Amino acid sequence: MDGFPKFLSARATAIQPSPTLAVDAKAKALKAEGHDVCGFGAGEPDFDTPEFIKEACIQAIHDGKTKYAPAAGLAELRQALADQFVEEKGVASCAPSQVVVSPGGKYSCYLAIQAVCNPGDEVLIPAPYWVSYPEMVRLAGGVPKILQTGPEDGFRLDPNALREALTEKTKLLILNSPSNPTGAVYPPELIRELVEICIEHGILVLSDEIYEYLLYDNSEHLSPASISPEAAKSVITVGGFSKTFSMTGWRLGTLMADRPIAKAVSDLQSQTTSNATTFAQYGALAAMRNWDQAMREVSDMLQVFDRRRMKLFNGLNDIPGINCFRSTGAFYLFPDIRELGVAPVDFAARLLEKKMVAVVAGEGFGSQTGIRLSYATSDDVLEKGLGRLKEFVEEEFSA
Ligand SMILES: Cc1ncc(COP(=O)(O)O)c(C=O)c1O
Repeated sequence: MDGFPKFLSARATAIQPSPTLAVDAKAKALKAEGHDVCGFGAGEPDFDTPEFIKEACIQAIHDGKTKYAPAAGLAELRQALADQFVEEKGVASCAPSQVVVSPGGKYSCYLAIQAVCNPGDEVLIPAPYWVSYPEMVRLAGGVPKILQTGPEDGFRLDPNALREALTEKTKLLILNSPSNPTGAVYPPELIRELVEICIEHGILVLSDEIYEYLLYDNSEHLSPASISPEAAKSVITVGGFSKTFSMTGWRLGTLMADRPIAKAVSDLQSQTTSNATTFAQYGALAAMRNWDQAMREVSDMLQVFDRRRMKLFNGLNDIPGINCFRSTGAFYLFPDIRELGVAPVDFAARLLEKKMVAVVAGEGFGSQTGIRLSYATSDDVLEKGLGRLKEFVEEEFSA
């Protein structure tokens, strides 16, 4: 029996579960049954959290930091994040009161949307998008308006498309660079142009920068809030520790915004989760206070990611009918499979069934053009998975 549907709220029944988590769960279940699955579905680094960060957290537990913390986060951590926002990102000013530490970048995004969206407000979301944005907008009663981008334009929103989409109901534009699922990085001049259009029209920007340190091919990340004092007021910046430091299970996200927005987010958090786990925040504080050491570890991870990125990129482009865009951020590739004449969702389902290779279909990201592969996976899986993918396409799609 499916429970008592009559008791479920319209909100709960309307929500779509995360397709990326579903693929990962299915791949793990097949593995547990003894199948040799090659998983390209996971959106998390396969490295361990740096040792010194773990040690700081363990020490915090020994020191009794096991009680509630302030809702918006430890004062020292908020201060360190505010300082870094100014010194490293070049934002004109940022006080600790503009910073909220949350249980994950996902929750930072959710609260940001809850804090600014009224029912009926339109939120512009470039596709392919991270799966959670439209659902979060709907949960706030807002209306997601999807703006398509494709491999032809480097998966980047065209300023003219942004202008054309604006209405008097537009409240927010969501930018996510480097992007999940495409790995695309917006060049600084394009970020400037898009943010200036938003400022001109009184629209807020949610800039999800969770992958900001995962960059390749000398690509550059510009934090939109750093563009001008007006931008600092209009942009809500979300970040976190999950992807950069391989801390997905720690559940630690950040948010920086103009003071009234940050206060609203903090108030919402205080009534919904209280604080992010106290001792976990001490691990994050160690990363902030030993930034050079932390970045050395990230740079080691990046070298491995980059090697895998190129291996996967070249391997995919060697498969007839698959055309892969050379992404320069995060740890995803989003190859175009349109030439094969199959819907991504069917391709992914058949690939898992026939070859035990898990990828995420583009439909979950609002795209009909391709599939997402994460290269946050071992070299062995990568090689074996590529081989099976090639076999699958040859067996199923060659004329
Ligand atoms: C684009 C994007 N934003 C935010 C998040 C949330 O990260 P977390 O909640 O683990 O900090 C993710 C995780 O997959 C993501 O891909």
